[in-house]
Formats: sequence, C-alpha cells, structure tokens
Amino acid sequence: MLPEQNPYSPGSGRRPPELVGRQKELEAFDTLSARVGYGLGDRGIVLTGLRGVGKTVLLNEMHRRAEADGWLTVRLEARRDEEGAKTVRRALARELVVAARKLTRTSLTGRMKDALGTISSFNAKIGATSIELGVDISTGRADSGDVEVDLLELVEDVATALGEKRRGFALFVDEMQDLDAETMGALIAAQHAANQRDWPFYIVAAGLPNLPRVLTETRSYAERLFNYRPIGKLARDDAAYALREPAERLGAEYEPDALEQLLDATGGYPYFIQEFGQTAWDLAPERTITAADAAAAVSYGTDRLDAGFFRSRWERATKSERRMLFAMAVDGEGPSPTAEVAHRMTLQPSSLGPYRAALISKGLVYAPEHGQIAYTVPGMAAYIDRHHDDLDVSGAAD
Ligand SMILES: Nc1ncnc2c1ncn2[C@@H]1O[C@H](COP(=O)(O)OP(=O)(O)OP(=O)(O)O)[C@@H](O)[C@H]1O
Ligand SMILES: [Mg+2]
Repeated sequence: MLPEQNPYSPGSGRRPPELVGRQKELEAFDTLSARVGYGLGDRGIVLTGLRGVGKTVLLNEMHRRAEADGWLTVRLEARRDEEGAKTVRRALARELVVAARKLTRTSLTGRMKDALGTISSFNAKIGATSIELGVDISTGRADSGDVEVDLLELVEDVATALGEKRRGFALFVDEMQDLDAETMGALIAAQHAANQRDWPFYIVAAGLPNLPRVLTETRSYAERLFNYRPIGKLARDDAAYALREPAERLGAEYEPDALEQLLDATGGYPYFIQEFGQTAWDLAPERTITAADAAAAVSYGTDRLDAGFFRSRWERATKSERRMLFAMAVDGEGPSPTAEVAHRMTLQPSSLGPYRAALISKGLVYAPEHGQIAYTVPGMAAYIDRHHDDLDVSGAAD
C-alpha cells in the first residue's frame, strides 16, 4: 500500500496513531489534575519501563493535559554526561522563563508577580536566557547558588501563586535516571516539601526500570513521594487493536492469521508494533494484509530491526562490553546475576565493574536489583542469539 498513507509511527517519542493500553496511567494523571483543581494534594507520578514501551509518548500526553488545564509546565530531558548538571539546570531556567512568559499576558495577582520575579532571579543566577518577564527581579530569592535551596524557594513561590488559582506547577522529566545526583536530590526535596505543605507542585517523570531505586537511593523518603507506574508490553487485545485500528481507519484490514503472526513478532512491545505495522503496510500490495504479506513483513522487519535498532546499540559497546552483553544472553531477557556473568567471562566479579558501569552509562543495561543486570532493550537476547556466529566478541582488548 502507499507508503505516504502509512499510519504507523515507529520512532522515539512519536505519538502513535492509537495510544492504547495506558488508560490507568492517564486516569492517574487526570485524578492528580482534578485534585489540584479542588485545591487538594496528591503525589507525583513516575513512569518506568524498558526502551520503546512508550514512556515518552505517555509523558508527552500528560504534559499536554497539564497545559490544557492551565498549569505552568516545564519539560526536561536528563543526560548523563559531564556537562549534564549544568545543561539541565540551564534548560530548567530557560524553559521556566519561556513558560512564565505566557502568563504575563494575563492579569497577574500580586503573588504571581512575585513568583515571576523569583523565576527571573533564578534565571539571572544561572544566566540561561536574556528573555525578560517585565517584572522586578526578586533579588535574594532562588539565587543563592545552592541548587536545593534555590529550587525550594522557586517551587514555593511559583506553586503557591498558581495554587491561588487552583492551577498546578509541574516538571516533566524524561530519562530521569540520568539526572545528576545533586539536581535529583534537590528535585526530590522540593517535591517532599510541596507534598507536606500542599503546594501544587508535581514532578512527573519517566525512566528506565531502575529509576525508583535511583530515587530512593538519593532520598529514602522518595519511596512514598511518588505514584510509581511500571509501563510494559501491551496485552494481546490492546496490541491487536493498536495494529488493526489505524489500518481500518484507512479502509485496510488484516487477515486473522496475518494479525496473529505480526502480534507474535512484536511481543506486544509498542515500538515493535509500530515497526512491524509499518513494514506490513508497505509490503502488502492490496488493502487486505494476508498471511503471506505478514510473513514477509516479519522477515523483512526483523532484518531491518537487526540492521538498525539492535545493531546501532550493539555497536555502541566496546569489544569487552560486547563480551558482557554476549554472556548475559544465556539468560534470555534476564535479569542475569552479575557474579554468574563474570564467571562466564572467566573474570573476577570485581573486574566486571568497569564494563558494567560503562554499559549502564550508555543506557544499554540497568541493574534491576543489587547483584543483577539486565538489558534495557527488549529483544536484545534474541538478537544476540540470531547473530551468534557473526557478532565479533573475540579477544578481551578494546
Ligand atoms: N500505547 C501505545 N500504543 C501503540 N504504540 C505506542 C504506544 N506508546 C508508544 N508507542 C510507540 O512506541 C514507540 C516508542 O515510544 P516512546 O519513544 O514513547 O518509548 P520510550 O519508552 O520512551 O522509549 P525509550 O526508552 O527508548 O525512550 C513509538 O514509535 C510510539 O509511537
Ligand atoms: Mg523515551
């Protein structure tokens, strides 16, 4: 069928044609938003899951809803590099100023003017943007240079001003596990203070499955601060709907057997649903996607994923790190006991440490528990199995 009409959306953070199977998470956000409307408190939300399950898409949808409800919102993506802390704080200040600028068009309460002054002061200290908000800078507020103190003052001033209007202030943080420890600690502390004092400030975050652990290791009380929502593969019915519905809307359909084959190939993972759906559409000559079309799509789609999605991740690893990825594949989707992986590589567990740390930092593996390790990408073990003979893992040197 015509590729220009293809409704599927493989990619990163791309809104799918049907956002299926996430009603409970969206309801959790709607409840939070409704409670803010009543002047009541709630907890922030943390979405966690493997690569490609749809965390960013869901975070974006919650962000959209918060904006529609008149909240002041900031959207951030954490990055794990040397400049990470500086970059994310500059982004926070800049995005805050930009978001606050929209408010300047409305008539402002005294408190709101003060809050804008605090945002200006926070920004002036960090020097993120020269955009002005047309209010006096609240010198001495949120400009100490101590990120925890400054964020707390900022959150207090902004959230209490918005709270008067029954509106919320929210930070949407993607890849939160990659946030530097200091900024993470400051954000959790701000959320903690807000919860205790019923300021309508909320962190809505997304990240890998180890994010809850990272949060509680940073501040033990983080365990009780958030509504933790693990996001996974879709139930078979939902996955079927996600494949079928976009095609049917354009007058195309799947033969039942074709649908089953494709569903098996996707394993219910949202990213794979979009990828195989797109391939099946492109390969089918007629508006009915037959079992033969589906078989071709599974074969071609798998090759494409192997050559792109999986291979690009494999190539991010050095030779020694690949040996570790290889040794983990014995456990399928995992997790693998770290000591066992070291044993398979004929290494002392302590010698595995640097490879483990490098792979975590590259976002290829994560530690579900102490002493365990798992792939962040669904299907990685199967990829390694498929290419067992042609993946170069010989030799220990990089
Ligand atoms: N509920 C859903 N139903 C169908 N497709 C979805 C759904 N959620 C996301 N997708 C699709 O899955 C793909 C991955 O989505 P997204 O980038 O949000 O995942 P992610 O969990 O943020 O991945 P990563 O960890 O790599 O950032 C996209 O192509 C998106 O269109
Ligand atoms: Mg994402």
